[in-house]
Amino acid sequence: MATAPAKVAVLASGRGSNLAALLAARTRGELPVEFVLVGSDKAGAGALRLAEAANVPTLALDPRSYPDRRAFDLDLFARIAASGADWLVLAGFMRILDGEALKPWVGRIINIHPSLLPKYRGLHTHRRALEAGDAEHGASVHFVTAELDGGPVIAQARLAIEAGDDEERLAQRLLPLEHRLLPAVLGLLVGGRLQWSDQAPCFDGQPLTAPLRLGADGLVP
Ligand code: GRF
Repeated sequence: MATAPAKVAVLASGRGSNLAALLAARTRGELPVEFVLVGSDKAGAGALRLAEAANVPTLALDPRSYPDRRAFDLDLFARIAASGADWLVLAGFMRILDGEALKPWVGRIINIHPSLLPKYRGLHTHRRALEAGDAEHGASVHFVTAELDGGPVIAQARLAIEAGDDEERLAQRLLPLEHRLLPAVLGLLVGGRLQWSDQAPCFDGQPLTAPLRLGADGLVP
């Protein structure tokens, strides 16, 4: 008997190109998951339209209709739990999460961030990498903890900064790597090769001492 695919919810605040990459990987048969919910804090988010087009249930909650961050997050996370999701992916969800609300999800929630963490947590990562004169930039997928962009890094995609890069060009060149990185990490998680164990990521039963790297053929230690 075939096992049921893992159930995944995605949160996104913006255009949703990373969500699109996840949906496409699933359609190609490369990601054995069922998307049970796409949620947003912005009713106008492109990600919600992409989910609707893919027949994935959507949810838009307005933070302004809650007394505080914790109330919003608790309601949001209760609804995600009610969707039956086993895993939660933050794909451009532009909010800091409340530690209490997050607790039941730790180890089952990942985020993609456009920098080589621990460098450049927060916003304007491309600009900051350029201003620092870095030779390399990249994206990271990490387990989410209450610390903003601070949870253990699982995997990274790297690219060399070129002389012609400005903020926009660099962001554009990085995006296709993000679109490979996020589905690849989710695939390892739902396949059981990657786990949260003892506050740290484990890959094939061994604690990860360095992030996995996105190579031409996928993720490698
Ligand atoms: C991506 O750059 C992602 O790394 C960051 O937010 C952006 C979301 O883009 N967390 P999109 O909405 O997936 O196109």
